[in-house]
Amino acid sequence: MTDRIEWVRANCRLLTAITGEFTASQPFAGLTIGTGIHLEPKTAALLLTLAAGGARVIATGNLSSTQSDTVGYLRDRGVRVMAEPTTDAAVHDTHLRAILDERPDLLLDNGGDLFARYLDAPYPGLRGGTEETTSGRMRLAPLAGPLGLPVLVINDSPIKQFAENRHAVGQSVLESFLRITNLMTNGKRAAVFGYGACGKGIAANFRNAGCLVDVVDVSPVTRLEARLDGFGVPDRADALRHADIVITATGARTVIGAADLGLIRDGAVLCNAGHFPDEIDVPALAGSPSVTGRADGDGGISTFTLDDGRVFHLLTGGHMVNLAGPRPLGNSIESMDLGFALQARCLEAIATGAVAGPGHAVVPVPAFIDEAVATAFLRAHGC
Ligand SMILES: NC(=O)c1ccc[n+]([C@@H]2O[C@H](COP(=O)([O-])OP(=O)(O)OC[C@H]3O[C@@H](n4cnc5c(N)ncnc54)[C@H](O)[C@@H]3O)[C@@H](O)[C@H]2O)c1
Repeated sequence: MTDRIEWVRANCRLLTAITGEFTASQPFAGLTIGTGIHLEPKTAALLLTLAAGGARVIATGNLSSTQSDTVGYLRDRGVRVMAEPTTDAAVHDTHLRAILDERPDLLLDNGGDLFARYLDAPYPGLRGGTEETTSGRMRLAPLAGPLGLPVLVINDSPIKQFAENRHAVGQSVLESFLRITNLMTNGKRAAVFGYGACGKGIAANFRNAGCLVDVVDVSPVTRLEARLDGFGVPDRADALRHADIVITATGARTVIGAADLGLIRDGAVLCNAGHFPDEIDVPALAGSPSVTGRADGDGGISTFTLDDGRVFHLLTGGHMVNLAGPRPLGNSIESMDLGFALQARCLEAIATGAVAGPGHAVVPVPAFIDEAVATAFLRAHGC
């Protein structure tokens, strides 16, 4: 596994270059950065880049995605990690609060977990930080006033949108589906719920893998876009009734719930790519009187039996299919290198005062950072 972390670090060309620069410039000297982001090999590369810039890094993960080898690797290199692999929200909450107890100067958040809890007990000295994802922006946007600090949303950079959410999530969700199920995709009908950046990439990748893809989205404008991109846009009941593969990527809760059990096709495989594990309401499905049996395999597949004899399968318990389950690889290294270069540059900008003031609370990455990171990637890859 350490070999894999080294492989990842070696392929993060932007972070490698930034590490060299930060080692000399020390933008975080004397500062503590508290982080709450998936603890997997690519984030190890990011956290060690911040540490090279002089930061004291204290880290926890996200629910259900912490990888023990990454935790060990970081601890061996001086990062204080308060995390363990868990799907227990109460355990995760204690880790998040332990990070805030250290009163970090900067926060690197994913899903809004740290900033939302900071508002429960604000402390002096927090300069601001970053939020990685769509779900976090949705949670933090209404809190921009009370936060009143720069919080730069990496997700809303066009680079993150096309490089990670569209291309990389689509690719890694397909890769995870194939690795976990070992099933054929050709000729299967897939229903993708949500046609934002992630859903677009998922729909495109499953189409490229020979699936007939339907898109379900609450927005008629987005359904029109999906239609003009060549996808089916049936109503959600028809999409579910015919889908062999159902994938959610909306950022919303209970996209698939117990009321849908009558529609799910015999043998269908359900999985979620959205940040939180409640897009498929697994407790409601499991607790429905029409579910007569559940078998949880150790390979990331749970099989539910319905009272009329149909079965359906759920991957990785409804947690993000590309980051949970057996041997999760997550999104491609280069896509994450781009997003994490944005992270490093945004935190540097806040630490050095280049970005300051309440006017920057929960806003996209400034254009000057996008342009610098895009230029660096094109140069590093000889484009
Ligand atoms: N798995 C990963 O590696 C990964 C990476 C990035 C983002 N994400 C997560 O994926 C989710 C989607 O991100 P995005 O950037 O595509 O978001 P987005 O806001 O661009 O798109 C979401 C789409 O879902 C639609 N939608 C909302 N509720 C719906 C519902 N009930 N049924 C059908 N459609 C619905 C919206 O209209 C919108 O078109 C978020 O939770 C995000 O945090 C996951």
